[in-house]
Amino acid sequence: MSQQAETPFPRLWEESENTPYISFMQMLKIKEVCAAHQPEHKMHCYQSAVSGLSYGFILVGLAHLVLHRKAQSSYGRHMAPSCPGRKVPARPAWFLQEIPALLIPLLLMFLMHESSAVGKHLLLKTFCLHYFQRTFVYALLTRGQPFPLSVMMAAAFFCSINGFLQAHYLLHCAHLDDAWLSGYPCKIGLLMFYTGMAINVHSDYILRNLRKPSEVVYKIPTGGLFQYVSGANYFGEIVEWFGYAVATWSLPTLSFAVFSLSFIGPRAHYHHRFYQEKFKEYPKSRKALIPFLL
Ligand SMILES: NC(=O)c1ccc[n+]([C@@H]2O[C@H](COP(=O)([O-])OP(=O)(O)OC[C@H]3O[C@@H](n4cnc5c(N)ncnc54)[C@H](OP(=O)(O)O)[C@@H]3O)[C@@H](O)[C@H]2O)c1
Repeated sequence: MSQQAETPFPRLWEESENTPYISFMQMLKIKEVCAAHQPEHKMHCYQSAVSGLSYGFILVGLAHLVLHRKAQSSYGRHMAPSCPGRKVPARPAWFLQEIPALLIPLLLMFLMHESSAVGKHLLLKTFCLHYFQRTFVYALLTRGQPFPLSVMMAAAFFCSINGFLQAHYLLHCAHLDDAWLSGYPCKIGLLMFYTGMAINVHSDYILRNLRKPSEVVYKIPTGGLFQYVSGANYFGEIVEWFGYAVATWSLPTLSFAVFSLSFIGPRAHYHHRFYQEKFKEYPKSRKALIPFLL
């Protein structure tokens, strides 16, 4: 008797004493009691790590803006034909480098209790949605050239850190409530995010279909936002991440938007110059990144 009093289940065992089986309701009760006695996986906000990583992204982004001349050659059309080191076919490379940005937030979301419901909502409908598309649609359909292993590893490292930063911040640090979801900044930010994502996905679709399978040539992209800019996919991605920053209004989300702008903004400029040099008939009115402006 005294032993029974120490366990959380005495009453359940007594009820099932006269029957050779445990009823469904008793099983549910046992599950409830077990859950109540499980050690909780709580996670607090690591504010100094969040600030450090966010400022780090901004600094690395700005450093890239200064050093971009060299960095453009890392993959794709600007890569030297004699690029040293191992290469990985484009599909597995994109899949492996992008998947940490999807898996880490999902793991944090499902393993940790006591995370913000609004943060979870925003994380799933923006960041995770984007990385689901990039990992399971873009990566598996791309017709790009093989990727240098070193670039793939660097991108996977960035996606892991960024996946942790964005998920940890939104789940454990952000003070967002239901009223925030119905306010204008959140609505405007989400509108920007989905518009940018639609432009990005559509532009990548146009680029992909310029090539036949296993062909490696560059052609003039037309249609969609390519009528106005050479880097339509990059323009969409930048609008997307600034929309995400507005919808969540925070330093970590802004730092990712600034990082993206600093990384793919110059790349759009080099793509634009590449088209102008390669194709004499390239449309004169087309800009590099921002329609009618830049
Ligand atoms: N958030 C960030 O910081 C970040 C950073 C990098 C990339 N991204 C995103 O990742 C996606 C891919 O980026 P990316 O830098 O690889 O874009 P990209 O240089 O525009 O290339 C996209 C794909 O289309 C092919 N392609 C591009 N222009 C072409 C043309 N004129 N004719 C035929 N094929 C062409 C490329 O082949 P090749 O590979 O053979 O050139 C590649 O497979 C984009 O949506 C971009 O926004 C985001």
